[in-house]
Amino acid sequence: SRSPWPKHQPIYIVSGPKKGPTSGKSITKTNFPQGLVGLRNLGNTCFMNSILQCLSNTPELRDYCLRNVHRTDLNNNCRTNAALMEEFAKLTQSLWTSVTNEAISPSDFRSQIQRYAPKFVGCNQQDAQEFLRFLLDGLHNEVNRVTVRPKVSVEDFDHLSDDEKGKRMWNMYLEREDSKVVDLFVGQLKSSVTCTVCGFRSTVFDPFWDLSIPVAQKSSGEVTLKDCLRLFTKEDVLDGEERPTCNRCKARRKCTKRFSIQKFPQILVLHLKRFSDSNIRASKLSTYVNFPLKELDLREFASESSERAVYNLYAVSNHSGNALGGHYTAYCRNPALGEWYSYNDTRVSPVSSSQVRSSNAYVLFYELAPYPHSKYQTCRL
Ligand SMILES: *[C@@H]1O[C@H](CO)[C@@H](O)[C@H](O)[C@H]1NC(C)=O
Ligand SMILES: *[C@@H]1O[C@H](CO)[C@@H](O)[C@H](O)[C@H]1NC(C)=O
Repeated sequence: SRSPWPKHQPIYIVSGPKKGPTSGKSITKTNFPQGLVGLRNLGNTCFMNSILQCLSNTPELRDYCLRNVHRTDLNNNCRTNAALMEEFAKLTQSLWTSVTNEAISPSDFRSQIQRYAPKFVGCNQQDAQEFLRFLLDGLHNEVNRVTVRPKVSVEDFDHLSDDEKGKRMWNMYLEREDSKVVDLFVGQLKSSVTCTVCGFRSTVFDPFWDLSIPVAQKSSGEVTLKDCLRLFTKEDVLDGEERPTCNRCKARRKCTKRFSIQKFPQILVLHLKRFSDSNIRASKLSTYVNFPLKELDLREFASESSERAVYNLYAVSNHSGNALGGHYTAYCRNPALGEWYSYNDTRVSPVSSSQVRSSNAYVLFYELAPYPHSKYQTCRL
């Protein structure tokens, strides 16, 4: 199939000044598609538009669509019904190869996501993170390289070291779920549960597609992303009704539990739990969470301290408003230009990187930083 990349043919794109709102748009000639195209709102679909723009600026996923690699994966699977991936790819292609800056309607894509997840039918306010989960799951299922899932074997890994157990569990996962989406987004979380009576420790390894992080609270008002991650990984006590069964005591015991990251994904999606779970009254935390745009080092949250875990931010889904209603927008760093843009449905405008952090940041998209050259060589020696 033909590559939609306009390799040699220059295309014309509209770009604004580097900083500030788009006034005095200028036409520039470029050899690269740009992705600075808005999406029409189809009636409360800003949650969808915001996430689509974040995904469209995920370079490896974008290229997967632009180069039609998904078709190869579909063909290998002999799948006939893979309309969601196809519409997602078409939409991504339109965003990156459009020769005008006119906003695109995501209605064909929306019909497919609604078929896949009827929850998204209608014009209700939806949660952007929930939508992201459904979408990635839907895309993954259509391009899963595994066509026949092996039976789940109940193997006993308890005699293995934690690391070995983690690896085996990961390989078992890949025997069932293996796609470009998994390559990019899925990591592995380790939870260790320790019995307070006999000290027996058991470990469980689970794949994760994103991490939902509680928003830490401080009297000063402002917290850092690491404060939130520390809260997420801090030791928790499981008591009362929550007491798990200890394998050694063979009885329900008060235990402590903590999470650590066993395997870091290429793309780390962090969801800040701003909306309360309580169904008594919906509320939203607008705590200002300070997060780094560059070099977020997560080694302290790793199960193995040697793991490489430095990330750079490339997209943010922003929710303004309250728990009852609001508006989603996105900030994305354009992979070709390295500059940040704000995506507010049909409107795309350049912003300075200093504007990206706000008390409305809701879903953060981080990409694993490439190895610094020298460090990589040291590791190999
Ligand atoms: C994100 O929210 C902040 C705080 O309300 C707002 O100032 C900013 O314009 C929003 N950004 C985008 C891209 O929506
Ligand atoms: C998005 O655009 C709408 C309509 O122009 C505007 O009212 C709103 O303030 C914008 N939101 C952000 C966050 O830029």
